[in-house]
Amino acid sequence: MPALRAQAAKSLRGSIRVPGDKSVSHRSLMLGALAVGETRITGLLEGADVLATAAAMRALGAEVTRHDDGTWTVAGRGIGALQTPSGVIDMGNAGTGVRLLMGLVATHPITCVFTGDASLSRRPMERVMGPLRAFGTRFTARDGGLLPITVEGAADPVPVAAEMTVASAQVKSAVLLAGLNTPGETSVIQHVATRDHTENMLRHFGAEVITEPLPDGGVSVRLIGQPELKAADILVPADISSAAFPLVAALLVPDSEVRIEAVGLNPLRAGLVETLIDMGADITIENRRTEGGEPVGDLVAKTSALSGIDVPPARAASMIDEYPVLSVAAALATGTTRMTGIGELRVKESDRLAAMVDGLTACGVVVRSGEDWMEVDGLAGPPKGGAEIAVDLDHRIAMSFLVLGCVTENPVVIDDADAIGTSFPGFVDLMNGLGTQIGETNT
Ligand code: S3P
Repeated sequence: MPALRAQAAKSLRGSIRVPGDKSVSHRSLMLGALAVGETRITGLLEGADVLATAAAMRALGAEVTRHDDGTWTVAGRGIGALQTPSGVIDMGNAGTGVRLLMGLVATHPITCVFTGDASLSRRPMERVMGPLRAFGTRFTARDGGLLPITVEGAADPVPVAAEMTVASAQVKSAVLLAGLNTPGETSVIQHVATRDHTENMLRHFGAEVITEPLPDGGVSVRLIGQPELKAADILVPADISSAAFPLVAALLVPDSEVRIEAVGLNPLRAGLVETLIDMGADITIENRRTEGGEPVGDLVAKTSALSGIDVPPARAASMIDEYPVLSVAAALATGTTRMTGIGELRVKESDRLAAMVDGLTACGVVVRSGEDWMEVDGLAGPPKGGAEIAVDLDHRIAMSFLVLGCVTENPVVIDDADAIGTSFPGFVDLMNGLGTQIGETNT
């Protein structure tokens, strides 16, 4: 478990491209495997989570190939043609991977056993099993609804009208994917709109998906079951959740100007950019365009004096993975930043709310928190730093504290560099290319 240390950087400059979007990458492999014909994916994230999904799709019978030019192809078998895997499917750290796959296999007449690492094995799975049981699927889980889980897919699934009790794109997507091999119409009511990559990609592959706004600001999504999905090319945008780290670093390190190219700016994902601009960040979006059906743009960020704000709870779903690095930005702002409606952070790869409170406090920042909120008192300057952070198998906690270490008086150490490979292979080299000083340490 190699440790990494970040120390104060003088200036960040340059133009970079961060790896492909994790959400889009998982979905492209899964839908490619259900489509008839060959799907070519350009820009697939080659992080550990997505590689676990690639291996799972192979185990379920799809032919998944990485080519020398970095593109991937999936030779799909058609809806209903997934095979029983010969062994247990180990999804590692990948919450999106396992939850969406549970939906995918739920309406195939096959039995699958899913497992994962220590982080994934403590994350709640009842949220997906509940709605999927209504299709006729049976689950056997460890006590508490935890992995390992055996899924016995329904041989004669019945369509489901599911009302979401959590604001989760993963749960919505699991239901929609189960609806693919189900006759009739499957529908999901979401009182809070969440990322819509599954709906967009289903349409791209030829399925009929109808999305309608609800009076309470939510959405209803309906899918007509058993469509013929046709293989389609996918261009994966750069991941805004990965761009968040160099973006915030550029705002905080003095004398900086960083361009991040072709970042996916789906409005249901871009809440961090809006929030940072509300705090006074100098971020411009250039070359707005549509690539592979998703809005993208180049983000240009310059060193900025930030002010604390109240982050509206309605924005939480559109930046749920970005609160850790936002709380780092808040630590250097002038005034207090209040983040509410963020209870979901407690059930991510780690309890991210607790991780940020503990780590920021150890670095000399005053933080208050409750079950679903956090307040950070900005120091209007560099925090003391000097702490070693246990990242607890959480990639985004690891990268957030490395960004903090770029602007603290004393270096910040994270205990597990390997966690970063989940979503952002090449993070350290890319950041150091801009001017950060992140390196291995023996401490
Ligand atoms: C994801 C949805 C989010 C997010 C995760 C990726 C997805 O989880 O935290 O990193 O690809 O659908 P929830 O939908 O459970 O909040």
